[in-house]
Amino acid sequence: MTRAEPVDVTRARYDRLAPLFDLLEWLPEQGSFGRWRARLWKGVAPGLLLEVGVGTGKNIPHYPPGAAVTAVDVSPRMLARAARRTARLGRHVGLHLMDAQALTFPDAAFDAAAATFVFCSVPDPVQGLRELGRVVRRGGSIHLLEHMRAEHRILGRVMDWLDPLVVRVMGAHINRRTLVNVLAAGLKIDAVEDLAPRGMVRLITARVP
Ligand SMILES: C[S@@+](CC[C@H](N)C(=O)[O-])C[C@H]1O[C@@H](n2cnc3c(N)ncnc32)[C@H](O)[C@@H]1O
Repeated sequence: MTRAEPVDVTRARYDRLAPLFDLLEWLPEQGSFGRWRARLWKGVAPGLLLEVGVGTGKNIPHYPPGAAVTAVDVSPRMLARAARRTARLGRHVGLHLMDAQALTFPDAAFDAAAATFVFCSVPDPVQGLRELGRVVRRGGSIHLLEHMRAEHRILGRVMDWLDPLVVRVMGAHINRRTLVNVLAAGLKIDAVEDLAPRGMVRLITARVP
């Protein structure tokens, strides 16, 4: 297994991308991304919720009404945009600058957690997922919308080959094995929904055992 890169590298990448982030994703957001976000949040019951890797706050309009949401990100510039969006939408969200791999919340502090397109960029995804399992109460749910390595021999290898370039430009690894990582973090998988061919985008619902 390759050593995880320092989180400062991830932070610097997303700080750099922050001013362009919404523009770069504007088109897919009008179609599939927006639909997939709505689908994820439909499955999240209100309660004490944690979103990790909130980014510019694109999920905020989808938060279940009545939920008390805390959201974290490692990039100050992404987080600043999320803060502006919460103000615009008139929603109260507790925003914190924090590394998903070392959350400062106590054990079992939340009823559920969610992340969209985040575990492709967390340097050590298994450690980040373990942290979600720690801060969500036993029996609580973890909802992930993630792109990952294609389950296709050739395409998977092409993704491995392109990954070092893509991660430098876009900040995200394209060849993560997120289902394997969820299990390695000690979480129980309740449901997996394929949203794109060859398992390249999936909605994963997991549970803290
Ligand atoms: C591809 S963006 C997705 C943002 C948002 N979730 C969305 O769906 O638009 C990935 C986000 O994860 C954040 N991130 C990456 N590694 C992180 C870590 N270790 N801890 C917290 N946030 C992290 C990045 O700063 C960035 O905002």
